[in-house]
Amino acid sequence: MNSFAQQQQQQLLRGHYDAIRSQQQSQQLQAQQTQQAQQQTGGGANGTGSTIATSSSVWDKFEKGDKIGEGTYGLVYHARSKETGGRYAIKQFKGGREGDGVSPTAIREIMLLREMGHPNIVKLESAHINHSEPSLWLAFEYAEYDLYEMIKFHRDNKENRRDNPFGLMPQYIVKTVMWHLLNGLSYMHQHWVVHRDLKPSNVLVMGEDPAVSPAQHGCVKIADFGLARIFQAPARPLSDNGVVVTIWYRAPELLLGARHYTRAVDVWAAGCIFAELLTLKPLFQGQERKTPGNVLQADQLDKIFRVLGHPGIKSWPELEVLPHWVDNTDNVRVRRPEWGGTGLHSAVLEAMRAAAPSWAQGHVPQECVPPREAIDLMSRMLDYNPSTRATAEEALRHEWFRTDPKPGPNVFRMPGAAAPLVRYPRRPMTLDRIPPAAAAAAGGPGGQTHPQSHQDAGLPGPPGPPGGPGARGLGGGLSRGSSQAAAMLAAQQGPQGKRRRMENVPGFR
Ligand SMILES: Nc1ncnc2c1ncn2[C@@H]1O[C@H](COP(=O)(O)OP(=O)(O)O)[C@@H](O)[C@H]1O
Ligand SMILES: [Mg+2]
Repeated sequence: MNSFAQQQQQQLLRGHYDAIRSQQQSQQLQAQQTQQAQQQTGGGANGTGSTIATSSSVWDKFEKGDKIGEGTYGLVYHARSKETGGRYAIKQFKGGREGDGVSPTAIREIMLLREMGHPNIVKLESAHINHSEPSLWLAFEYAEYDLYEMIKFHRDNKENRRDNPFGLMPQYIVKTVMWHLLNGLSYMHQHWVVHRDLKPSNVLVMGEDPAVSPAQHGCVKIADFGLARIFQAPARPLSDNGVVVTIWYRAPELLLGARHYTRAVDVWAAGCIFAELLTLKPLFQGQERKTPGNVLQADQLDKIFRVLGHPGIKSWPELEVLPHWVDNTDNVRVRRPEWGGTGLHSAVLEAMRAAAPSWAQGHVPQECVPPREAIDLMSRMLDYNPSTRATAEEALRHEWFRTDPKPGPNVFRMPGAAAPLVRYPRRPMTLDRIPPAAAAAAGGPGGQTHPQSHQDAGLPGPPGPPGGPGARGLGGGLSRGSSQAAAMLAAQQGPQGKRRRMENVPGFR
C-alpha cells in the first residue's frame, strides 16, 4: 500500500474533521454567550454552556414541522429555528408516571449528550423541560437520511438503474459509512459512553442541502444514544405501545444472560450493520420471544450459531459464567448438527447474490464485491469473545480502510466526484396537520404516522417511493403542509392509507 496515498487520505480526513470541529467550537462559543445572556436575564442554564430551558416552550424557539419518526419514548418532528431558519429534529419525550417530573438522571444524561462533541455524533442543540406536564423536548441537528432508509432504498429499487446504478450498495459507501460509524463509536467509548442500541435506524447521515455546511455533507451521525437510560422505568411496558426493541443487533454475551453492557456490545452491533449494508438484510434475523424477563432468545442464538458455529469455552472462556450457558437453558450447550457454521464469507456472499438485481444475473456487481479484508474485519467485529473482539480503535486500523476505494468525508460521493454515486430519496415525513375534513375523507384521523421503523415493528416496509426527481424536492417542507396538499393526499389514499409520504403528493416541491 502506497504510504503517500495513505498520508494524503489521512490529511484529507483530518482537514475535514478539523473544519467540523472548529465549526462546532464556534457554535459552542455562541452557546456560551447565549448562556451568559440567559444567566443575566435569569433564564435557565447549566454550568457547561448548554442551553437547558426550563421555562420557555420549545415552540417559542422553533417552528413545528411534520412528524419524521415515532420512537420508543415519543415523537420526532421536523422543525425550523425561528431565529436562523436552520433545520432541526425535535424529539419529544413523554413524562413517566404522573407526578414523577423529569428525573435528575434524565438531566444528567442530557448534560452528557451536550458535552459530547464529535462530527460523527448527532449534535444536541438545546433541551426544553416543562416540569408541570412533565415533558422534555430535545432539539438535534437535522439529518436527511438514515441507514435504515438507505438500505431499504437499495432493496426496494434494485431494478432502478438510473438512481441505483450499482443495485447493491457500492463499496465506497459501505466503507465510508463504517469508517464514520467507527470513528463516532471510538469517541464515545473513549468517553465511557456505551450506546447499547445501535441499529440502522439510529445511524443518521447528513444531506447535501445548500443550508448544510459542505464539510457536513454526507457525514454519518450516531443518534439515539444513552437515551434509553433517561427513562429507566417507562410508565408502561414498551410492548403496550406497539414498540418492539429489536434483538437482531444484540451481542451473544447479552443473549446468554450477561447483565452488563460493555463497549464490545456496540462493536457487535456495528458488525451486524456492516453485513446489512452489504446484503441489504439483517444478518441475524431471529424471532423474538415476547415473554418478559431475561428469557433466552433461542431463535436469535440459533441464527448466529448457524453462521458462526456453536461457541466453545476454548475460544471464549467466560462462557462458563454466563447464566443461560450455566443453566443450559433450552439445551443451548448441546451442539446441534446445523450449528457447524457456514462461515461469514459464504453467508454474506450468498445473501448478496440473492439481493443483486436481475440485470447482474445472479452475480454481485463488481463495484459492490467485498474483498477478503472486508469480511476479515467483519469477523473481528463479530468475534464471540467480547474480550478479544476488535475495539472500535482496532477496527479503524484495519487494512480494509487503507485499500481502494478509501473512505472519504462524504458518504455519497467520492472525493472530487461531480455526482453522488446513488441518489437516495429524502426522509419520508408524515403530514401532521391534516385538516379534520380531509382526514375524515382519508378514512382515518389526521397525523397518523408509521412506527419508528418497520424493521423494529417486525412489519414489512410499505412500498418505496417511485423514485426519480419528481419524488423529491421535499426540502424543508415546513409550512408547506398545505390543506391543498393534504386534501390531494387524502383523496389519493383511500381507507387503508395510513402513512403519508409528502414526496408522493403531485406538485409538492
Ligand atoms: N436528528 C435527526 N434528524 C432527522 N431525523 C431524525 C433525527 N433524530 C431522529 N430522527 C428520526 O426519528 C426516528 C426516531 O428517533 P430516535 O432518536 O431513534 O428515537 P427512539 O429512541 O424513539 O428510537 C429515527 O429513526 C429517525 O428516522
Ligand atoms: Mg431509535
